[in-house]
Amino acid sequence: MIKLGVNIDHVATLRQTRGGCFPSIIEAAKICEKSGADSITVHLREDRRHIQSQDVYDLRESVKSKLNLEMAANEEIVRIALSAKPDFVCIVPEKRQELTTEGGLDVKNQKNNLASIVYKLKKAGIVVSIFIDADKDQVLACREIEADAVEIHTGKYAEFFKGNGSDSFKFKEELKKIYEVSQEVIKNGLILNAGHGLDYDNIEQICKIYDINEFNIGFSIVAKSLFTGLEVAVKNMKKLIDRNQSN
Ligand code: PXP
Repeated sequence: MIKLGVNIDHVATLRQTRGGCFPSIIEAAKICEKSGADSITVHLREDRRHIQSQDVYDLRESVKSKLNLEMAANEEIVRIALSAKPDFVCIVPEKRQELTTEGGLDVKNQKNNLASIVYKLKKAGIVVSIFIDADKDQVLACREIEADAVEIHTGKYAEFFKGNGSDSFKFKEELKKIYEVSQEVIKNGLILNAGHGLDYDNIEQICKIYDINEFNIGFSIVAKSLFTGLEVAVKNMKKLIDRNQSN
């Protein structure tokens, strides 16, 4: 069964607007877990725009499922990961001005640096994933640096869906590309995850890629929760994933 990781960064985005401790990300993580989330994801960005360093330590104490830390290949953040010891990390590219992670990491062109970070994290018992675009060469580079997993960036898939749903040529092409790259991921013995821009409308088609281990979904669930509550938002996404993969 494809698992659901819920990214709760935007609960912290809301909290940061008033600088206090409400809404609590610890409480949010508990509700997500109670509602069927298989893991909790946070992105500790260099600019600390939502998740703060202390949040990672606090979540490490309270998360009972799995804690997944998204992070740039940055020395300070690697140090925090090594001391907080999340279950998984996902190494992502990061730009200060971006609204969200815009593309996958160019692993091919920074193999040495990434290999040494992957080595240190794995040695600490952390499962290491790399966020990449759907590109076979990047998959091979991830295997070379001995990552455990890749997360395929589904941003374009989500973007192309917005126009004409699953009927558009661009959407079908992107889904096919993700499928082909997924086969390469599995062939190379890596765990396959996917995420970015996934929502209640576009989740159905990507569920057909049975080899996916886990989706990481943030914005759509947290935004939906404003109207339904977090428990219903998570449960509904979980139901959609379960229903569509068994078809
Ligand atoms: N996966 C990765 C690696 C990400 O950087 C993000 C955004 O933080 C997500 C998944 C979740 O994306 P979204 O918030 O669009 O669901």
